[in-house]
Amino acid sequence: MKDFFINKFQNTFNTNNVPKIFFAPGRVNIIGEHTDYNGGYVMPFAINLGTYAIAMLRNDNNINFISANFSKSISITTNELNYNKNHQWANYPKAVAKIISEAGYKITTGFDVLFYGDLPTGAGLSSSASIELATAVMLNELFNFNISQIDLVKYSLQAENEYMGLNCGIMDQFAIGMCKKDNAVLLNTQNLQYEHIPLNTYNYQFIIVNSMKKRELLNSKFNTRQNECKIALKQLKKELIINNLCELNSASLHSNKNLIKNDTLLKRATHVISENERTINLSNELKNSNLQQVGELMNLSHNSLKNNYEVTGSELDILQEISLKQKGVIGSRMTGAGFGGCTISLVDKNFAQNFKTKVETKYFDATNLKPKFYFVNSSNGAGKWE
Ligand code: GLA
Repeated sequence: MKDFFINKFQNTFNTNNVPKIFFAPGRVNIIGEHTDYNGGYVMPFAINLGTYAIAMLRNDNNINFISANFSKSISITTNELNYNKNHQWANYPKAVAKIISEAGYKITTGFDVLFYGDLPTGAGLSSSASIELATAVMLNELFNFNISQIDLVKYSLQAENEYMGLNCGIMDQFAIGMCKKDNAVLLNTQNLQYEHIPLNTYNYQFIIVNSMKKRELLNSKFNTRQNECKIALKQLKKELIINNLCELNSASLHSNKNLIKNDTLLKRATHVISENERTINLSNELKNSNLQQVGELMNLSHNSLKNNYEVTGSELDILQEISLKQKGVIGSRMTGAGFGGCTISLVDKNFAQNFKTKVETKYFDATNLKPKFYFVNSSNGAGKWE
């Protein structure tokens, strides 16, 4: 694979020089959905599908972004990092370069970069954060900036929030920057304290299934949900001293529910606060190897995302329901933002193939969509690829 990347780069940019190779994984979230912009816990792990950046500095001011996945390539100069709609996917690496340079790390010369990704896009496995972190670690190394990994995570999040305009929380960038192979990370998004939790699933494995219902977060209800949470918090703050919804628990929300003046907003807050509790509970169940309970909490999470947060949609609901009915499956839920994308299921390894065959047919019969299956492994966070 290494030689393949080097050859491809040399042919693409017509050079004999040897580029550097970087890799940023994708992530899958086990639980803690839509809690990260509400000061709650999340528990994702990084996966061994992601984005490779094969790159080298140039002697002039030109920056060339080429992707093996998209036909459009972009050539700009170091002074042309502003958002440009026509630059499509290349706005992600541009965003990171711009944010990092505005933080005082000057991009003084141009560079050539070839991106190659094996993550599905728009499927809830964080292809955007993956290309952001691939760019961040690449710039850090090419220019010897010496930026800490956590700051690269924060700059990538800033790129997504301020430059791309998606008001997401820090989960994706953090998971992709900070995860460790064989572990999930339990992250408190309020203070960024975290704990690596070993993925001891014994004879069970996590299987990701792509519903093949695409969604574009920038055009979805993501920002609407974020705003609903903001309004619910504002109403609670009239009498409570809190900064985030996740400072409440289910009992304190219940006793203050009259402060929230609208049923929809109450449902949103109910999801966020109960999901936060489920995330802490699931991390403990995983530590204690209580896999049945892990599965049960995943199922409860899906139901809450369906009924209270209303971000699942019929394809994900059908996929989750079919998955759960199969032999050896103890938990299944949508993962990521929702509105389409993937589910994650906890499946007995002996029934993994049976799961694939059955879900494939039954889901196709119900939706006319052919799902894709990812039997992934966990991965380390973004960095140089050796
Ligand atoms: C997207 C966002 C994350 C998080 C999830 C929902 O992946 O980028 O920050 O909000 O949705 O949990």
